[in-house]
Amino acid sequence: MTGELRVGLAGLGTVGAGVAKVLFGNAQNLEWRAGRGIALTAVSARERKKDRGVDLSAIPFENNPLAIAERPDVDVVVELIGGEEGVARALVESALRAKKHVVTANKALLARHGAVLAGLAERNGVSLKFEAAICGGIPIVKALREGLIAYEISAIRGILNGTCNFILTQMEATGRPFAEVLAEAQRLGYAEADPTLDIGGGDTAHKLTLLASLAFGTVPDLDGVAMTGIDKVSPADIAFAGEFGYRIKLLGVARRTANGIEQVVHPAMVPARTPLADVESSFNAVSADAGEAGRFFFQGCGAGQGPTASAVLSDIADVARGAFGPAFGRPAEELERGKREPAEARKSAYYMRFQVLDVPGVMAEISRHLANEMVSIESMIQRGRAPGEPVAIVMITHEAQHVAVVRALQAIAASDKVCETPCMIPMEAA
Ligand SMILES: NC(=O)c1ccc[n+]([C@@H]2O[C@H](COP(=O)([O-])OP(=O)(O)OC[C@H]3O[C@@H](n4cnc5c(N)ncnc54)[C@H](OP(=O)(O)O)[C@@H]3O)[C@@H](O)[C@H]2O)c1
Repeated sequence: MTGELRVGLAGLGTVGAGVAKVLFGNAQNLEWRAGRGIALTAVSARERKKDRGVDLSAIPFENNPLAIAERPDVDVVVELIGGEEGVARALVESALRAKKHVVTANKALLARHGAVLAGLAERNGVSLKFEAAICGGIPIVKALREGLIAYEISAIRGILNGTCNFILTQMEATGRPFAEVLAEAQRLGYAEADPTLDIGGGDTAHKLTLLASLAFGTVPDLDGVAMTGIDKVSPADIAFAGEFGYRIKLLGVARRTANGIEQVVHPAMVPARTPLADVESSFNAVSADAGEAGRFFFQGCGAGQGPTASAVLSDIADVARGAFGPAFGRPAEELERGKREPAEARKSAYYMRFQVLDVPGVMAEISRHLANEMVSIESMIQRGRAPGEPVAIVMITHEAQHVAVVRALQAIAASDKVCETPCMIPMEAA
């Protein structure tokens, strides 16, 4: 390939402005790495005059981002607007149809429409690249798509949302409740004004969907993710986890099982002093079990201007070199679909906490409901002695069926000796 690669940049917010800064500030190094120059030839955002911290006055500005896809002086459209639908989707589709390469950081769009867009890119002979969509600066897409390809990947576990990991780390360090720490995270800029997508697990689900697709060669299956957020995690559970030798982390887990692909997002007990458990604050991490190649662990900054722009530039350089293939590592038509593991098949050991009245018979009642569902106990702690008052009983089970544990807890919750909804948290292998 000869001549400069011409970039049209749609979205000049946190990530887009970061990309523009690198294109101007590190042009020579990028040219050496990419084998040809990379030129910014058009930009688009909502507000033309906003200060982006980088001088874009010499670059043609399009009020309508879709116009970027039509420009003859653009080879690659970099979509950094965001959103599952709307202008971002329209832009990516029209760019691919116009035979422009696309680089995007848009996990929401790809988790929902990834396979269709990958097919569109292939039919038009261009690339669809998304390193920045998963874990910001960690080159995990490259690792899964191009590195760990010799053996079947059996499982991926990840701390994929920095906001949640920051909140859980703070709750553990200070003993403060979720709502208080969330408010602080919002003040410090670690959490959005509307944090629903982060704390509810939706953002982790987007990234997990893409990781699973890359790892297992499946169609991104967002609706196949079973999702629990962190809003019900209490300081008491975090403290008990510590006593049992665990830390609570919001994990995205995808496994290939005999029954199909399992995808879950949930707060989980992770054995302390293991790589995933040791991931602090807003860092992200991914652990991948890659068959005979072994287990690999990746950690780094999952968001923010620098890390995310770094991933976008890596994709742009690949496009410049002509180094690209199918978006998800195999032709879109060959991506497997429809092989979800049924919820009834999910199994794990569980941590359970019951807040019960300290009265005779309460243990017998809990044990009976657990036995009815074939849930057996590995260890137990009962704290305090306060006849007639609420006390905590905490148990760790042997491996049990998820649905059986849920049924047992529903039965236990109905007892007049139980003071609040019982808590259950799965235990995850390190
Ligand atoms: N921020 C991160 O750390 C991070 C990390 C990983 C992935 N991502 C992904 O990167 C993408 C961009 O995120 P961001 O944080 O940079 O978002 P952002 O700061 O909100 O920036 C969005 C940009 O899109 C522009 N925009 C919005 N609607 C538009 C429209 N209808 N027409 C033209 N331009 C429009 C905005 O224009 P104005 O500036 O004029 O309002 C703004 O420049 C998202 O897909 C996000 O999920 C972000």
